[in-house]
Amino acid sequence: MAVIAGNWKMYMGPAETRAFFAALQVGAAADRNELIIFPPTVSLGAAVSSPDRDPRVQLGVQNVHWESTGAFTGETSAIMAAEVGAKFALVGHSERRHVFAETDEEVALKVVAARDHGLVPVVCVGETLDERRADRVEEVILRQLRAAVSALAGGQGRFLIAYEPVWAIGTGETATPDDASSAHQTLRAELEASLGIAAALRTPILYGGSVKPSNAAELLSAPEVDGVLVGGASLDPDSFLGIALAGGG
Ligand code: 13P
Repeated sequence: MAVIAGNWKMYMGPAETRAFFAALQVGAAADRNELIIFPPTVSLGAAVSSPDRDPRVQLGVQNVHWESTGAFTGETSAIMAAEVGAKFALVGHSERRHVFAETDEEVALKVVAARDHGLVPVVCVGETLDERRADRVEEVILRQLRAAVSALAGGQGRFLIAYEPVWAIGTGETATPDDASSAHQTLRAELEASLGIAAALRTPILYGGSVKPSNAAELLSAPEVDGVLVGGASLDPDSFLGIALAGGG
């Protein structure tokens, strides 16, 4: 069982969202994989109520605020996203960290808010190209992981990790399966050290960064890779399905 998740970022309004679900026929791919789409918040309601959406395609929100309500113009709380029908929440995506200057402390607050309101957090970690060149991959991803996991402090419930090297996002450049495996191994070992072997083994670790139908099978069969988080290639139903068909074999 692989997790195949699509992060639509700031693409796909409500009409395009309905058209996507009308065109997406997941068939047997949904029996072999856990399928999740993260539409923009404004399209979440359309995704939930799309008459053509196979209910096996679950939905998530791309970002949440850590407070439930308040004077936070433009923000969405976890409780509100859950009310609309989200089941998952991306937290700490690289664009949130690097474009919107989100800190590890904020990521930790968001992870807790998601968990407390019944959303499964998908905690994103990943190094920049400069950090990779400086041989700091482990240091960076472990710092990001520890901030999120320690905030959950034992009452973690289910959560997922997504390793998305920043240099591979939207660039067409993909980490090699060996690079992905090595980072995932580092993350899994940290989960084992902090939460125990059972939690480490049941926490899916996804790879993200220029995943497409042509490279999905190779990445998904790499050791320690439990799924993929797909940006650009998840916007097209055929391409998303192509990736899903590569999973869970
Ligand atoms: P791309 O697949 O477009 O590189 O984006 C990856 C990503 O950021 C998914 O969250």
